[in-house]
Amino acid sequence: MTRPTPLIAGNWKMNGSGAALAEARAVADGLAGVTARVAICPPAVLVSRAADALAGGPVEVGGQDIHPKASGAHTGDISAEMLVDAGATLVILGHSERRADHGETDADVAEKVRAALRAGLEPIVCVGETLAQREAGDALKVVTGQVRASLPPELADAAFSVAYEPVWAIGTGLTPTTPQIEDVHHAIRTTLTHMFGPAGEKAPILYGGSVKPSNAAEILNAAEVGGALVGGASLKAEDFLGIIRAV
Ligand code: 13P
Repeated sequence: MTRPTPLIAGNWKMNGSGAALAEARAVADGLAGVTARVAICPPAVLVSRAADALAGGPVEVGGQDIHPKASGAHTGDISAEMLVDAGATLVILGHSERRADHGETDADVAEKVRAALRAGLEPIVCVGETLAQREAGDALKVVTGQVRASLPPELADAAFSVAYEPVWAIGTGLTPTTPQIEDVHHAIRTTLTHMFGPAGEKAPILYGGSVKPSNAAEILNAAEVGGALVGGASLKAEDFLGIIRAV
């Protein structure tokens, strides 16, 4: 089947201020001839301003998390509906930093995915093993288990992507070998196809973890790699564009 349009998403994490929107605009200005979908996921307080700054252009805006409920007494949280109102079209869910820092379980992530779909947000669902899990030979078991438990059946009718982000590769400069990436992506694809049929065959499977301009071409050309979720290198337009142009 034809390869789905690759998605390159920048996860700014807890970085960036209003001044950083100039970088987002520079990314938009540098996309002539690029066929990949490109998204920037800034901190929640910048989503609305990023959406305004990028309106009408090729760069989509996403959030980094949502509360499963639409509204209510949940101090400090934001809902999927609020992200849509602010101009977001995508949301990263189940990032390992949220799983580790906030104790998010697979069941929590599945509930958030349902909330995203309720509001019309396209989820990017993150999975990935720790170094201890990989060294124990459990990477495929852990990752496919996360896929099965974090992705609810409602995704069969929706656009979504999965991001494979080995925890030990995030922000460390370490990356898996290409065969290691391909092994995990194949296992995710098999699981998705089993779970969702045709929707599972076409959902992009992104790789994330120390992606930079110098390694992007090799990673993005690997089998079943349908894009990238980029942390640190998405903060500078020049680096992010270097990755985007490697598609
Ligand atoms: P780095 O690209 O900084 O390793 O982060 C990856 C990541 O966690 C993206 O969500």
